[in-house]
Amino acid sequence: MCGIVGYLGVRPATPVLVEGLHRLEYRGYDSAGVAVVQDGDIVVTKTAGRVQDLRDKLTDNPATVGIAHTRWATHGEPSDRNAHPHLDAAGRVAVVHNGIIENAEQLRAQLTADGVVFVSETDTEVLAHLVAREDAATLEDAVRAALRGVEGTYGLVVLDRSRPGELVVARNGSPIVLGIGDGEMFIASDVAALVHHTQQVVFLDDGELATVTAEGFRTSTVEARRTSKTPTTVEHAADDYELGGHTDFMRKEMAEQPEAIARALRGRLDERFATAHLGGLGLDPMALRAVKRVKFLGCGSAYYAGQMGAALVEELARIPADAEPASEFRYRNPVVDPDALYVAVSQSGETIDTLAAVQELRRKGGRVIGAVNVVGSAIARECGSGVFLHAGPEVSVASTKALTNMTVSFAMLALLLGRVRDLSAAAGARIVTGLRALPGQVERVLADDAEIARIAKRYAHARHMFFLGRVSGWPVAREGAQKLKEISYIHAEAYQAAELKHGPLALVDADMPSVVIVPADDLVAKNIGTIEQVKARGGPVIAITNADLPDGLADEVIRVPRGEPELDPILLTIPLQLLAYHTASVLGRDIDKPRNLAKSVTVE
Ligand code: F6R
Repeated sequence: MCGIVGYLGVRPATPVLVEGLHRLEYRGYDSAGVAVVQDGDIVVTKTAGRVQDLRDKLTDNPATVGIAHTRWATHGEPSDRNAHPHLDAAGRVAVVHNGIIENAEQLRAQLTADGVVFVSETDTEVLAHLVAREDAATLEDAVRAALRGVEGTYGLVVLDRSRPGELVVARNGSPIVLGIGDGEMFIASDVAALVHHTQQVVFLDDGELATVTAEGFRTSTVEARRTSKTPTTVEHAADDYELGGHTDFMRKEMAEQPEAIARALRGRLDERFATAHLGGLGLDPMALRAVKRVKFLGCGSAYYAGQMGAALVEELARIPADAEPASEFRYRNPVVDPDALYVAVSQSGETIDTLAAVQELRRKGGRVIGAVNVVGSAIARECGSGVFLHAGPEVSVASTKALTNMTVSFAMLALLLGRVRDLSAAAGARIVTGLRALPGQVERVLADDAEIARIAKRYAHARHMFFLGRVSGWPVAREGAQKLKEISYIHAEAYQAAELKHGPLALVDADMPSVVIVPADDLVAKNIGTIEQVKARGGPVIAITNADLPDGLADEVIRVPRGEPELDPILLTIPLQLLAYHTASVLGRDIDKPRNLAKSVTVE
């Protein structure tokens, strides 16, 4: 959420910064800006709108140091004025910032009383004024002193025109990563902006600052204690962040799912003992057997994936399991069960609500593991153990391959928990075979693209849609509704199929299509009943199924291959991605960057 880029070196900074912003645009895209030092002055160019609008405003500039930002508005509307970088009154210090300064109003009042005139409505501007007011020997000391009075979260970079050979960065709750080049250094809030230049990176920890020069960096804590960092090599190549011939990232990421699933399974399935190996959990069989309950915590689609995971654990391991939005869990003073295994689910590993839930759990002695895609992310590091999703970088705001790999990973976790209990070797072998078949089955669903596009076109002009499912189909319906809402802006509501007649059925008419999820389980007859109830009220029905439905029952039927029943939710979700994608495409939406949203929600 919001993107930061910084550069110091030998090349003109502006093209490096703008290219970095372009790669981070999925993190926030309502305004963008750049600040460089030229002839002893800070030159700021910023604009409401996209990075392309910024690019159009920029002129050639030889400056070799600069900072840049792409914004997702929290304080103050998207406008030129509120775009970052922000300057102090004298124009000496420029700041770009991700996160939220919680005591910004109070600091603003104090600064205003001292005669400071604010030009924006942002919380970030206070940082520029605070740093500029510090009379310190170094810029790092000035930033450290300013941050002592600041409450909230930040990942920030500070540029001072009187010290153009250095940038100071600080992190508390919002990621900052340094990229090490040859005689040049890069700064970003996400490795996506760096991998084109270097694969040697250093992740800052919360409470750390760094002074960065073209030759290197030194880190310390907010309390001025020196820290030492070991660079890590990022596993993704620059190409992973390219469209590679696809029209947009969502399409690319959907298409990558067979390969992504294969990666998640690689080396983790054991035919001989009909189980899975998840070494990163750090739990031996005795510890696994001691788990009395499993709780999945995540936000949005990660929460729905957690619901699918809970069903898998109950089915295969026969221990109670459930899922809860991490955003609720963290605020409700939960009773932490020492015998439970908590699973923090997150693609980005940076979602603040999920991170806070993990921190709360750890404070209260809960055992929490991560199910995270981004290696080195805050949640992965805070959990210390877990299962990496290996979906590869996900750029589109709407999650697809990461969500699929979450459920695949939960199937392996459930299998493992089951096999140290009373899941038979035969049942375990069945799941192993089912998992191995998934990449090919997903491939077959994806091959139905043209047919799903046709169906999407037929219903794209609906203003509202129901997504109905029961039991294992229920989280699938929720995810389907979520995907449609976020990228097409059609109002989509998910309901447990049996709940329909308790109220929402009143909404059904010819203008209200229902997407009904019908897994080939023992509830097929019940789901057929639901479809008939909708049809009887004139409602169009799109069935997503691997069951045999009576001919002519639904207006449209999208079929997925039949695999092992426990894994059905994974396959049934795929056509819903395509349905949302093609609907959004017919409506001309900006699929990778839906309005009001951003990838990785690092604010509350
Ligand atoms: C929906 C979507 C969001 C995320 C949610 C959690 O397509 O992408 O609902 O699932 O914001 O994000 P992560 O998984 O990064 O914690």
